[in-house]
Amino acid sequence: MNKPNDPSWHAATAAIRAAEMRTDVGEHSPAIFATSSFVFPSAEAAAARFSGDEAGPIYSRFTNPTVSAFEQRLAVLEGGDACVATASGMSAVLATCMALCEQGDHIVAASGLFGSTIGLFDNILARFGVSTNYVAPTDLDAWRAAVTPQTKLLFAESPTNPLTEVVDIAALADIAHDAGASLVLDNCFCTPALQRPLDLGADIIIHSATKFLDGQGRAVGGAVVGNADQVGEQVFAFLRTAGPCMSPFNAWIFLKGLETLDLRMRQQSANALAVAQWLAEQAGVARVLYTGLASHPQHALAEAQQSGHGAIVAFELAGGQAAAFKLINALQVFSITANLGDTRSTVTHPATTTHYRIGPEARARAGISDGFLRLSIGLEHPDDLIADLQRGL
Ligand SMILES: Cc1ncc(COP(=O)(O)O)c(C=O)c1O
Repeated sequence: MNKPNDPSWHAATAAIRAAEMRTDVGEHSPAIFATSSFVFPSAEAAAARFSGDEAGPIYSRFTNPTVSAFEQRLAVLEGGDACVATASGMSAVLATCMALCEQGDHIVAASGLFGSTIGLFDNILARFGVSTNYVAPTDLDAWRAAVTPQTKLLFAESPTNPLTEVVDIAALADIAHDAGASLVLDNCFCTPALQRPLDLGADIIIHSATKFLDGQGRAVGGAVVGNADQVGEQVFAFLRTAGPCMSPFNAWIFLKGLETLDLRMRQQSANALAVAQWLAEQAGVARVLYTGLASHPQHALAEAQQSGHGAIVAFELAGGQAAAFKLINALQVFSITANLGDTRSTVTHPATTTHYRIGPEARARAGISDGFLRLSIGLEHPDDLIADLQRGL
């Protein structure tokens, strides 16, 4: 029922046409299979589906055609053999760790990570005997030194949330593979439109589909992409039993989101560059972190491994939290919200929101001071966004 991918397609075409789904009715837009289970023509057919002798859907916690279409399309975009869609980005992280780690295993993670990922490692996985050590994302010697014989996963985001640090994906993949471990890369900020970590040697991609894959702030979802064994078998086996699956309706939203991903990522990158360049010239702004600025510490690496710089701009105000709150409260166009990746620009104060629960020690380790703000630049005209920030500064 799903049309196969044509490998000669550009990403912008694959994002619209890969795994295009069509039933006998001939609908143009993909159908939403709003059903919890599927009917078998006979008792024998039911048994054959459950034993695996016959392919086909059984129950929507396992597979659903709308969800499968999203999985297949994202796998094509990331260049992976398998994709498993999940209920949220966090359940993509959880499913990966639960599928690939067991008691006594060890994770080496970048100190700059989304706050809930740190919370999952420290407060939940630790209770089940999986320990995590954190290292500076850009310090390759520290990654090498932190690896132990028990290390199963190296885990990083690139660029990191919220400070946009860029990790050397190919070098980290080598460190992981030398240790017999796998590199898990959260590709949330770039998406496959701007970066394909599997091509650089990463083993598993994590997505919060909630962000740019949807792109319009409508639904929560996630995905894991990788090879047929680790993702297609092991992560899928966890999902099928433990159940953090994506709903067919959300999968439909993400499918529609993917259709405009390439265009959005390129325009939002251009808008973000304009905002970052303007911020860099403002008094009271101590530091601007945007991978597209030549002043970014890993600008050259970002240029080498990304085809664009994305929508996330972090900057630090000299006046600390008071200045950050004053700026946020003066904004009229930006939305004050914890989400990112929306067509609507958003502003977040990480120290008191997304990275509040990890505590002051982990924030200090990650370099998140009280004066930092994270902007996710949307599709409004950059001049209007700059005028809004001018008002706040
Ligand atoms: C980089 C990154 N990874 C994972 C997540 C978690 O995604 P979700 O909120 O969909 O669970 C987020 C959420 O902000 C994120 O920014």
